[in-house]
Amino acid sequence: MKIEIGLTRLALVGRSYTLKLPRINLIGPARRVKNILKREGEGKWHSLADYFAAPTDRWHSFRHDLFKGIAANWREARLSAQLQDVVVPTRFSFLGILNIQDTADQSRRVDVSFIWGEIYGQIGKEEMDRDFPALSHAFAHPENYGFHEGRPKLLDYGNKRIGEFLLSHAAFMRKLLSNL
Ligand SMILES: Nc1ncnc2c1ncn2[C@@H]1O[C@H](COP(=O)(O)OP(=O)(O)O)[C@@H](O)[C@H]1O
Ligand SMILES: [Mg+2]
Repeated sequence: MKIEIGLTRLALVGRSYTLKLPRINLIGPARRVKNILKREGEGKWHSLADYFAAPTDRWHSFRHDLFKGIAANWREARLSAQLQDVVVPTRFSFLGILNIQDTADQSRRVDVSFIWGEIYGQIGKEEMDRDFPALSHAFAHPENYGFHEGRPKLLDYGNKRIGEFLLSHAAFMRKLLSNL
Protein backbone atom coordinates (compact mmCIF):
# COMPACT_ATOMS: atom_id res chain seq x y z
CA MET A 1 0.00 0.00 0.00
CA LYS A 2 1.23 3.47 -0.94
CA ILE A 3 0.42 6.66 0.98
CA GLU A 4 -0.15 9.81 -1.08
CA ILE A 5 -0.71 13.22 0.45
CA GLY A 6 -3.10 15.38 -1.58
CA LEU A 7 -4.09 18.98 -1.08
CA THR A 8 -7.07 18.14 1.12
CA ARG A 9 -6.92 14.38 1.63
CA LEU A 10 -4.64 11.50 2.41
CA ALA A 11 -4.93 8.57 0.01
CA LEU A 12 -4.01 5.03 0.99
CA VAL A 13 -3.54 3.45 -2.40
CA GLY A 14 -3.99 -0.32 -2.36
CA ARG A 15 -3.89 -2.75 -5.27
CA SER A 16 -7.62 -2.71 -5.93
CA TYR A 17 -9.01 0.01 -3.71
CA THR A 18 -7.93 3.42 -2.47
CA LEU A 19 -9.04 4.84 0.87
CA LYS A 20 -9.38 8.60 1.01
CA LEU A 21 -9.28 10.33 4.38
CA PRO A 22 -9.74 14.08 4.91
CA ARG A 23 -6.77 16.01 6.21
CA ILE A 24 -8.07 17.96 9.18
CA ASN A 25 -6.14 21.16 9.00
CA LEU A 26 -5.90 23.30 12.13
CA ILE A 27 -2.83 25.28 11.12
CA GLY A 28 -4.62 26.98 8.20
CA PRO A 29 -7.46 28.39 10.36
CA ALA A 30 -5.02 29.39 13.14
CA ARG A 31 -2.88 31.30 10.64
CA ARG A 32 -5.95 32.97 9.12
CA VAL A 33 -7.26 34.10 12.56
CA LYS A 34 -3.81 35.45 13.44
CA ASN A 35 -3.70 37.46 10.21
CA ILE A 36 -7.17 38.91 10.79
CA LEU A 37 -6.31 39.89 14.37
CA LYS A 38 -3.15 41.64 13.19
CA ARG A 39 -5.24 44.09 11.14
CA GLU A 40 -5.75 47.67 12.29
CA GLY A 41 -9.17 49.05 13.29
CA GLU A 42 -12.46 47.65 14.48
CA GLY A 43 -13.29 46.08 11.11
CA LYS A 44 -11.22 43.07 12.06
CA TRP A 45 -13.88 41.88 14.53
CA HIS A 46 -16.43 41.88 11.76
CA SER A 47 -13.99 39.97 9.53
CA LEU A 48 -13.37 37.46 12.30
CA ALA A 49 -17.10 36.85 12.91
CA ASP A 50 -17.60 36.55 9.16
CA TYR A 51 -14.76 34.04 8.88
CA PHE A 52 -16.44 31.75 11.44
CA ALA A 53 -20.01 32.25 10.17
CA ALA A 54 -19.43 31.86 6.41
CA PRO A 55 -20.64 28.64 4.74
CA THR A 56 -18.32 25.79 3.79
CA ASP A 57 -18.43 26.51 0.08
CA ARG A 58 -16.88 29.95 0.55
CA TRP A 59 -13.11 30.09 0.33
CA HIS A 60 -11.54 31.80 3.32
CA SER A 61 -14.19 30.49 5.69
CA PHE A 62 -13.42 28.50 8.84
CA ARG A 63 -15.64 25.66 7.71
CA HIS A 64 -13.98 25.51 4.33
CA ASP A 65 -10.48 25.57 5.84
CA LEU A 66 -11.35 22.85 8.32
CA PHE A 67 -13.68 20.63 6.35
CA LYS A 68 -12.57 20.87 2.75
CA GLY A 69 -11.30 17.28 2.76
CA ILE A 70 -14.67 16.00 4.00
CA ALA A 71 -16.51 18.21 1.50
CA ALA A 72 -14.31 16.84 -1.31
CA ASN A 73 -15.11 13.27 -0.25
CA TRP A 74 -18.84 14.11 -0.17
CA ARG A 75 -18.73 15.52 -3.66
CA GLU A 76 -16.85 12.56 -5.08
CA ALA A 77 -19.38 10.17 -3.53
CA ARG A 78 -22.28 12.20 -4.93
CA LEU A 79 -20.86 12.71 -8.43
CA SER A 80 -19.38 9.31 -9.04
CA ALA A 81 -22.51 7.60 -10.39
CA GLN A 82 -23.42 10.57 -12.59
CA LEU A 83 -20.00 10.81 -14.20
CA GLN A 84 -19.40 7.27 -15.32
CA ASP A 85 -16.45 6.84 -17.71
CA VAL A 86 -15.11 10.27 -16.78
CA VAL A 87 -14.10 9.62 -13.17
CA VAL A 88 -12.66 6.72 -11.20
CA PRO A 89 -15.70 5.39 -9.32
CA THR A 90 -16.19 6.00 -5.61
CA ARG A 91 -17.72 2.80 -4.24
CA PHE A 92 -18.48 3.82 -0.68
CA SER A 93 -18.44 6.85 1.59
CA PHE A 94 -18.81 6.99 5.34
CA LEU A 95 -20.03 10.56 5.92
CA GLY A 96 -17.09 11.92 3.94
CA ILE A 97 -14.73 10.75 6.68
CA LEU A 98 -13.71 7.71 4.68
CA ASN A 99 -14.18 7.13 0.96
CA ILE A 100 -13.36 4.00 -0.98
CA GLN A 101 -12.46 4.42 -4.61
CA ASP A 102 -11.24 1.92 -7.18
CA THR A 103 -7.49 2.23 -7.56
CA ALA A 104 -6.38 3.69 -10.88
CA ASP A 105 -3.03 2.94 -12.49
CA GLN A 106 -0.68 5.92 -12.35
CA SER A 107 2.42 4.04 -13.43
CA ARG A 108 2.13 5.72 -16.81
CA ARG A 109 1.18 9.35 -16.79
CA VAL A 110 -1.67 10.79 -18.81
CA ASP A 111 -0.41 13.51 -21.15
CA VAL A 112 -2.66 16.44 -20.28
CA SER A 113 -0.41 19.16 -21.67
CA PHE A 114 -2.88 20.03 -24.42
CA ILE A 115 -6.11 19.63 -22.44
CA TRP A 116 -6.55 23.37 -21.90
CA GLY A 117 -6.25 24.06 -25.60
CA GLU A 118 -9.03 21.54 -26.23
CA ILE A 119 -11.24 23.01 -23.49
CA TYR A 120 -10.72 26.60 -24.64
CA GLY A 121 -11.29 25.52 -28.25
CA GLN A 122 -14.58 23.84 -27.44
CA ILE A 123 -16.01 26.06 -24.72
CA GLY A 124 -14.20 29.37 -25.24
CA LYS A 125 -11.62 31.02 -23.03
CA GLU A 126 -13.90 33.86 -22.00
CA GLU A 127 -16.68 31.54 -20.90
CA MET A 128 -14.25 29.32 -19.00
CA ASP A 129 -12.62 32.27 -17.21
CA ARG A 130 -16.04 33.64 -16.32
CA ASP A 131 -17.87 30.47 -15.27
CA PHE A 132 -15.03 28.25 -14.07
CA PRO A 133 -12.16 30.45 -12.91
CA ALA A 134 -9.03 28.78 -11.54
CA LEU A 135 -9.94 25.35 -12.79
CA SER A 136 -6.52 24.84 -14.32
CA HIS A 137 -5.19 23.14 -11.17
CA ALA A 138 -7.59 20.28 -11.52
CA PHE A 139 -7.15 19.64 -15.23
CA ALA A 140 -3.52 20.53 -15.84
CA HIS A 141 -1.95 18.14 -13.35
CA PRO A 142 -1.27 14.59 -14.51
CA GLU A 143 -1.40 13.29 -10.92
CA ASN A 144 -5.16 13.92 -10.96
CA TYR A 145 -5.63 11.21 -13.60
CA GLY A 146 -5.14 7.48 -13.70
CA PHE A 147 -6.00 4.56 -15.94
CA HIS A 148 -9.09 2.67 -14.83
CA GLU A 149 -10.35 -0.32 -16.81
CA GLY A 150 -7.81 0.64 -19.45
CA ARG A 151 -9.03 4.21 -19.88
CA PRO A 152 -7.78 7.54 -18.51
CA LYS A 153 -10.11 9.04 -15.91
CA LEU A 154 -10.04 11.76 -13.29
CA LEU A 155 -9.40 10.48 -9.78
CA ASP A 156 -9.45 13.86 -7.99
CA TYR A 157 -12.89 15.36 -8.63
CA GLY A 158 -13.81 16.68 -5.18
CA ASN A 159 -13.31 20.31 -6.07
CA LYS A 160 -16.62 22.22 -6.28
CA ARG A 161 -15.94 23.86 -9.62
CA ILE A 162 -14.64 20.74 -11.25
CA GLY A 163 -17.83 18.95 -10.23
CA GLU A 164 -19.96 21.68 -11.80
CA PHE A 165 -17.84 21.65 -14.94
CA LEU A 166 -17.95 17.88 -15.33
CA LEU A 167 -21.72 17.76 -14.85
CA SER A 168 -22.39 20.47 -17.39
CA HIS A 169 -19.87 19.16 -19.97
CA ALA A 170 -19.89 15.42 -19.33
CA ALA A 171 -20.19 14.36 -22.97
CA PHE A 172 -17.33 16.62 -24.06
CA MET A 173 -15.09 15.38 -21.22
CA ARG A 174 -15.92 11.78 -22.06
CA LYS A 175 -14.80 12.33 -25.64
CA LEU A 176 -11.72 14.30 -24.62
CA LEU A 177 -10.55 11.63 -22.16
CA SER A 178 -11.13 8.85 -24.66
CA ASN A 179 -8.71 10.61 -27.02
CA LEU A 180 -5.90 10.99 -24.47
N1 LIG B 1 -8.35 6.16 -6.96
C1 LIG B 1 -7.04 6.37 -6.91
N2 LIG B 1 -6.17 5.51 -7.50
C2 LIG B 1 -4.83 5.71 -7.44
N3 LIG B 1 -4.25 6.75 -6.82
C3 LIG B 1 -5.05 7.66 -6.21
C4 LIG B 1 -6.48 7.52 -6.22
N4 LIG B 1 -7.02 8.55 -5.55
C5 LIG B 1 -5.98 9.31 -5.16
N5 LIG B 1 -4.78 8.79 -5.54
C6 LIG B 1 -3.44 9.35 -5.29
O1 LIG B 1 -3.48 10.17 -4.14
C7 LIG B 1 -3.21 11.54 -4.46
C8 LIG B 1 -4.08 12.43 -3.59
O2 LIG B 1 -5.45 12.17 -3.83
P1 LIG B 1 -6.42 13.31 -4.38
O3 LIG B 1 -7.71 12.69 -4.74
O4 LIG B 1 -5.73 14.08 -5.46
O5 LIG B 1 -6.59 14.21 -3.08
P2 LIG B 1 -6.66 15.82 -2.96
O6 LIG B 1 -8.00 16.20 -3.44
O7 LIG B 1 -6.44 16.07 -1.54
O8 LIG B 1 -5.56 16.40 -3.83
C9 LIG B 1 -3.47 11.66 -5.97
O9 LIG B 1 -2.73 12.68 -6.59
C10 LIG B 1 -3.06 10.27 -6.47
O10 LIG B 1 -1.64 10.20 -6.66
MG1 LIG C 1 -5.16 16.06 -5.86
